[in-house]
Amino acid sequence: MAEVSELKRLAGIRACDFVESGMLVGLGTGSTVRYTILELGKRMKNDGLKIKGVPTSLATESLSLELGIPLIELPPDKKLDIIIDGADEFDLGFNLIKGGGGALLREKIVAQRALRMIVVADQSKQVNTLGNFPLPIEVTPFAHECTMNEIKEILDCEVIIRKVDGNIFNTDNDNFILDAHVGPKIENPKEIESKLLQIPGVVQVGLFVDMCDDVVLATKDGIEVLSK
Ligand code: 5RP
Repeated sequence: MAEVSELKRLAGIRACDFVESGMLVGLGTGSTVRYTILELGKRMKNDGLKIKGVPTSLATESLSLELGIPLIELPPDKKLDIIIDGADEFDLGFNLIKGGGGALLREKIVAQRALRMIVVADQSKQVNTLGNFPLPIEVTPFAHECTMNEIKEILDCEVIIRKVDGNIFNTDNDNFILDAHVGPKIENPKEIESKLLQIPGVVQVGLFVDMCDDVVLATKDGIEVLSK
């Protein structure tokens, strides 16, 4: 069986076939879509592909700039043609958990402004029902412990502040991430998302409901494109 990183690479590259010259492209964040961005850079350099990108994180911004992909602010007056991004889980209805890489807020803002969302994933991300992966929730540092308690009350589960090397992880927006171990199953993602968004300290929730149109899935038997 191919290594997961090879499956990610294959999915990431295949997703570039959805991108045409002249498109405004949302550039996601993570180790799978990284391969998409590298390939887009290559096609721009070698094959005359011309696109403009909107990055969903500072990491994606610097990678794109290194590759010579021109970047723009998210346009207020028109939609992006496409966004390509990874996911931590996707279910049968193409609902997603995202935010494993901590970029969920910008990812959601950009995805909401795109006409089409393509997810790139390896088979480990495919589930019948979301919930095994801890749900990332971006919160304000201000009163985050109160916010954490309110989240616990709603979800009735363990909620852990994300740390990296012992330090609290800071998002690109200078917020914190709380990981809610709400699983094993989230049967009603839309309802959970809207309940959590009512907590004032919650900035955004890593549930992407009815946003994804297609999944480019790398399996041990090859690439499949699943469409809604
Ligand atoms: C970042 C994300 C990523 O898309 C998600 O974590 C998947 O990452 P990877 O492709 O590295 O497995 O949501 O916030």
